[in-house]
Amino acid sequence: MTEKILTRNFDRADAHTLAVYRETGGYTAWEKARAMEPAAITDEVKKANLRGLGGAGFPTGMKWSFVPKNHTGPVYLVINADEGEPGTFKDRYLLERDPHALIEGMLIAARAIRCEKAFVYIRGEYVEPHRRFAAAVKDAYDAGLLGAGLDIVVHRGAGAYICGEETGLISSLEGKKGWPKVKPPFPAIKGAFGMPTIVNNVETIAQVPHIINRGAPWFAGLGTKTMGGTRIYSVSGRVKRPGIYEESVGITLRQLIDRAGGVSGNGRLKGVVPGGSSAPILRADEIDVTMDVDGLRNAGTMAGSAGVIVFDETVSVPEALMVVARFYAHESCGQCTPCRESTGWIYKMSERILAGHGRKEDLDTILDVSKRGAGTTICAFYDGAVGPYISYIEKFRDEFEVLIRK
Ligand SMILES: Cc1cc2nc3c(=O)[nH]c(=O)nc-3n(C[C@H](O)[C@H](O)[C@H](O)COP(=O)(O)O)c2cc1C
Ligand code: SF4
Repeated sequence: MTEKILTRNFDRADAHTLAVYRETGGYTAWEKARAMEPAAITDEVKKANLRGLGGAGFPTGMKWSFVPKNHTGPVYLVINADEGEPGTFKDRYLLERDPHALIEGMLIAARAIRCEKAFVYIRGEYVEPHRRFAAAVKDAYDAGLLGAGLDIVVHRGAGAYICGEETGLISSLEGKKGWPKVKPPFPAIKGAFGMPTIVNNVETIAQVPHIINRGAPWFAGLGTKTMGGTRIYSVSGRVKRPGIYEESVGITLRQLIDRAGGVSGNGRLKGVVPGGSSAPILRADEIDVTMDVDGLRNAGTMAGSAGVIVFDETVSVPEALMVVARFYAHESCGQCTPCRESTGWIYKMSERILAGHGRKEDLDTILDVSKRGAGTTICAFYDGAVGPYISYIEKFRDEFEVLIRK
């Protein structure tokens, strides 16, 4: 079993308080980082092979190094705590149970990118995580950790999935409608309030103190060749012990399902969505893959936010498609025609198929519009939506055809 790093204090009483965080070695990495040159911090994070844990899996140190060196105005750090991807529920635990790990990581990251003001954008529905995190920020101010070089603003979202997309999140933070923007320019060049901005996920930044304390080779060695460390998997659906599991990014999907007690329901696996609802589904015979970004990409799916949703044989894939299609139709921001129109129509067609009124051409129409629309929109929302549309139908077509023939 992998050593617990991010979750090591989760079962400790009062782990969310500054006193307990300090007792367990908290803020020693920050002491160390204060004596390091900013570029040396970034280098350490690069060598650790830390990759973004919010969805895209982008190398974190490389992202930090994109902030223009000759920029003289403010640089912002924005923490993405929107956690909207269905099947994902890990950031809420970090905010609730170890909020100072995020604050310490932010102090270090802010030094690396020369930032004096940071924002934490918390999903509106996360009432308790927000309360805990805001209290930890206040304690960090009272202890002089914040306010002497870095200020943190805690901002609550209002419950839109699209506000998790980094440019949508920035628009929302600026007080505008949470609409994504075309990239480039990337936020690292022109982000919040027109200034260079690094957007990172909660879990990504919570890893940083450990990298500084224990060194890049240690962290890199926990994972695979191209991705270091552990991550927190949210495991749900038909498993005997749903919940969060911290494991190496090199664990296989089969091992992870075993860690969660194995398949429940009728005990026979049908398929697994490995990285949140936008990740293409894997069949039961495709689960001997490592869970790192490249391992899952090579298997034709994605690591995404590590939300693992398990289907036993009794789960209806057409019904699952209808549920995710309803979600994407509801959450599309509507700026791009392919996304706005296709998500709405595919939801209607998936409902029609489920009700036994499907037409023979429906499946090919869904595949056709999904494949043609991908890559043509402002943000990656639609590319994510077509993940389930295409993979559910291509891998479980017979289940749909039975409904259409009826
Ligand atoms: C539709 C959509 C929703 C997203 N939602 C989230 C989210 O809830 N939380 C998150 O951290 N990243 C989310 N992302 C990814 C962010 O755009 C961004 O890549 C990430 O916050 C960067 O942090 P990281 O490099 O540390 O992963 C989303 C992306 C898309 C396209
Ligand atoms: S792809 Fe969809 S969610 Fe993204 S900007 Fe276009 S309409 Fe909005």
